[in-house]
Amino acid sequence: MSRRFDGKVVIVTGAGSGIGAATARRFHEEGAIVVLNGRRAPKLQDVAATLTADRCMIRPADVSNANAVEDLVTDVVRRLGKIDIVVNNAGTGTAGPFLDLPTQNWREVFAVNVDGVLNVTRATLAHLIESKGSIINVSSISGLGGDRGLSFYNATKGAVSNLTRSLALEFAAKGVRINAVCPGTIFTDLTMPIFERFPELLQRLQERIPLGRAARPEEVAGVIAFLASDDASFINGINLPIDGGVGASTGSASFI
Ligand SMILES: NC(=O)c1ccc[n+]([C@@H]2O[C@H](COP(=O)([O-])OP(=O)(O)OC[C@H]3O[C@@H](n4cnc5c(N)ncnc54)[C@H](O)[C@@H]3O)[C@@H](O)[C@H]2O)c1
Repeated sequence: MSRRFDGKVVIVTGAGSGIGAATARRFHEEGAIVVLNGRRAPKLQDVAATLTADRCMIRPADVSNANAVEDLVTDVVRRLGKIDIVVNNAGTGTAGPFLDLPTQNWREVFAVNVDGVLNVTRATLAHLIESKGSIINVSSISGLGGDRGLSFYNATKGAVSNLTRSLALEFAAKGVRINAVCPGTIFTDLTMPIFERFPELLQRLQERIPLGRAARPEEVAGVIAFLASDDASFINGINLPIDGGVGASTGSASFI
């Protein structure tokens, strides 16, 4: 494996499981010093146990809490001296008929998925300007279109995808590239309990994926690493689908 991130300091939010854990491992494999963020230490410690201790820092914080995020960033800069790459991955989901979902639920999912991105981005941008760094937001294909039954989640990820575009325009001149990945169906802690409860949902989803399967978190991590690397030095402001081809379809039925 190449080592594109030797000496780079990378913050990954929501690094205790799923896409975040796989992303932290990928950056670490390629030489980075990774900061594992999540709400609780134990899950982060499990991930850290698979990494070398001198290139790994565990720093719990709730990304929806602006003060906690400020403290996290202060700690990282004090201990590691800089920030090169930020992966805004922490997220949560909610599903159900629009009229049945309580407003409290809207506030909770926005607090993590959107305020979380706002808080971490605001707190780290000055450091990224200094390092000429990069932000990767983990949006979703649900940020690029609608899904029946995912209205609140769609609204949060639409916000993340368009914030990515807007900030990419604003901060390009300061040397910071800002992109998003838009995963489709990935097997993680977020989705597995749902698929275990509703196996027919997984079957329906996989039938709609041209590659015929859901993906592993590592298949997202590799794309995040690519976007953060110099290999993607002229890519800015994109929302890159990682969806096995779902977005290639008009949504119409097959003609063959
Ligand atoms: N799994 C999928 O199919 C899929 C598809 C598209 C997008 N995504 C997005 O990928 C991202 C990662 O999700 P995942 O599927 O790996 O799920 P996951 O549940 O395994 O990971 C999410 C992580 O975020 C952490 N987290 C939640 N709230 C937090 C908070 N307030 N502060 C700090 N950390 C917090 C959780 O503890 C968890 O470790 C999310 O933004 C999700 O919306 C997932």
